[in-house]
Amino acid sequence: MDSELSTLVADVFLIVLGRPASPTELRDEVRAGDIPTLQLRLLSSPEFGTVRAAWAGDLSPSADPEGLEQALEKRGAAQPFVRRAYDCLLGRPADAGGLQHYVGALERGDTRTSVLRALVVSEEFDAHYRAIAPQNGVIPRDTQLCELANPAKWDNPEWLDLLRSLGLSDDKISMHRKPYEFTQLLYGCRRLGALGEKSSVISVGAGHEQVLYWLANHVRHVVATDMYEGVWQSVQGQEGDPGVMHRPEDYAPFAYRRDHLTFMKMDGRRLAFRDGTFDIAYSLSSIEHFGGLSGAIETVRDMTRVLKPGGILALATEYVLDGPRHEETFQPEEFDELIRQPDLELVESIDVGVFGRYDCAAVDLYKNPYQSPHMVVRMGDTVFTTVMVFLRRV
Ligand SMILES: C[S@@+](CC[C@H](N)C(=O)[O-])C[C@H]1O[C@@H](n2cnc3c(N)ncnc32)[C@H](O)[C@@H]1O
Repeated sequence: MDSELSTLVADVFLIVLGRPASPTELRDEVRAGDIPTLQLRLLSSPEFGTVRAAWAGDLSPSADPEGLEQALEKRGAAQPFVRRAYDCLLGRPADAGGLQHYVGALERGDTRTSVLRALVVSEEFDAHYRAIAPQNGVIPRDTQLCELANPAKWDNPEWLDLLRSLGLSDDKISMHRKPYEFTQLLYGCRRLGALGEKSSVISVGAGHEQVLYWLANHVRHVVATDMYEGVWQSVQGQEGDPGVMHRPEDYAPFAYRRDHLTFMKMDGRRLAFRDGTFDIAYSLSSIEHFGGLSGAIETVRDMTRVLKPGGILALATEYVLDGPRHEETFQPEEFDELIRQPDLELVESIDVGVFGRYDCAAVDLYKNPYQSPHMVVRMGDTVFTTVMVFLRRV
């Protein structure tokens, strides 16, 4: 085996990954004989991602920090070691100032481990890394907006950030249609460019849903409308509790801008606003309770009317996957009829195949509605989930 090459390969592993090369790695890399490619490959590896995170957290990347330091000390004198570290990590020869600085530090008793750490956490390394591996670590993520409540969103970091910002758990075992609806609403409106400090928003059948308070902190104004009467004052989560109109702060999940949120008693089928008032009109898990398909269609039409041209209508409702008709759910053909309205167009086609690719238990709402994950549910033989769509007013 070429001993000079073998030394170089061993150096690269130790400096970049903080561990010795295995005998097989050493053999294969000596045979390949391409040190620049080895450096690039190791720096781009997921293993280096862990090493870098450890350095950034001021931790050793090795389970045996002393062993690592001893191994590094065996790699020759201070000056060649610093030169090798520059070459491996910064992709350039050490300049005179840098060399003097680090060799001096080693002579004064600093560890070789601390030299590696200093180089990896430097701004220069950041810039070098962005230049050599700009796509590294970008995991493909599901970005579909119009779809059935989709477990894949719990793997999308941007989506999860929004979920957390609502004060909700990102634990997959807590996966539930309600947090999905809130988060998907924000994610979709943001991706469509509709969410901003200048946006005006209306929620229909709003109850006291927590996303209202989030919106109050991020848009110009939110109007929450609901009948706030009848059965919804006592059933389920008492979403129709009229108390929220008088003391909205008592229902807030976190601090919010009070002057950005107004609650109003209003029938969603006849909104008391002028045409073209809002940038976003949305309704989450409500319109299925507004008097069957005809009540829901009336509501969608009036939500469209109060939208500005180009505004976004976001809708979440109950979508039957299997089984007979059941009140307050929509069969696929009924849902298609609901959203096929003049002046409205889907921003993309709807992914209704989500649960064809998941092995998933439908929570029996009659038996125990509190089970989670809670993405697909059943009432008797009717199995359903949430469908979420974004439509643009043309
Ligand atoms: C299941 S709750 C959903 C509330 C809220 N969107 C949420 O996700 O927590 C349904 C809501 O629709 C309201 N509602 C029922 N009929 C309505 C109508 N015709 N107009 C407006 N709201 C209505 C009820 O008062 C109740 O608050």
